[in-house]
Amino acid sequence: MQIYLDTGNVKEIREAASLGILDGVTTNPSLVSREGREFKDLLLEICQIVDGPVSAEVVSVEAEAMVKEGRALAKLHPNIVVKCPLIPEGLKATKQLASEGIRVNVTLCFTPTQALLAAKAGAWCVSPFIGRLDDVSSHGMGLIRQILTIFRQYQFSTQVLVASVRHPQHVVEAALAGGHICTMPFSVFQQLVKHPLTDIGLKKFLADWEAHHMSNPAEIQSV
Ligand code: G3P
Repeated sequence: MQIYLDTGNVKEIREAASLGILDGVTTNPSLVSREGREFKDLLLEICQIVDGPVSAEVVSVEAEAMVKEGRALAKLHPNIVVKCPLIPEGLKATKQLASEGIRVNVTLCFTPTQALLAAKAGAWCVSPFIGRLDDVSSHGMGLIRQILTIFRQYQFSTQVLVASVRHPQHVVEAALAGGHICTMPFSVFQQLVKHPLTDIGLKKFLADWEAHHMSNPAEIQSV
């Protein structure tokens, strides 16, 4: 499963990318507006940091205007994936952009039928928002499984990007379900690596080593 960061913050992206396991970034208008920066500059900086897909969302709501915006965004950098909302005009724009070879992430997906239409329009990926479904007492992960089954059934190449992730358990379930991509806030990304037993275990290993005055393995001479 590919791991993306869902943020517009370059400090967070840099830190996650330094681990060498970050596959891409998703942004949305809310995340970008939080940064108080020019959209184009921000996108270019993100594309410089991450060698992978970077989703950038259109803000028009009519197909023709979305296509225009999408073309301009895609022209900025080869890593850019254009994000279109899952509304009728968004599907029209997706169909057009996909026919021009532009990768589209169809976002704000909340039902299997919406996902099916996005795949039929030629979306590169579809983003079901699982956290927002859980928030309204629906079953976000159930939606992921339904979409994956439908896509497999008809061999759609559209990928399922699990979005609106709120905690590490969402990531575990996304991976178990076979989600292609999981995007998450930096706080969740940080939690993925953490376990108190790892920290306690490491502390004990190092204390035992130190207590017996063992030498640093980096200083061991090869024979
Ligand atoms: O980027 C789209 C999605 O991941 C938003 O998540 O937490 O605002 O529901 P959230």
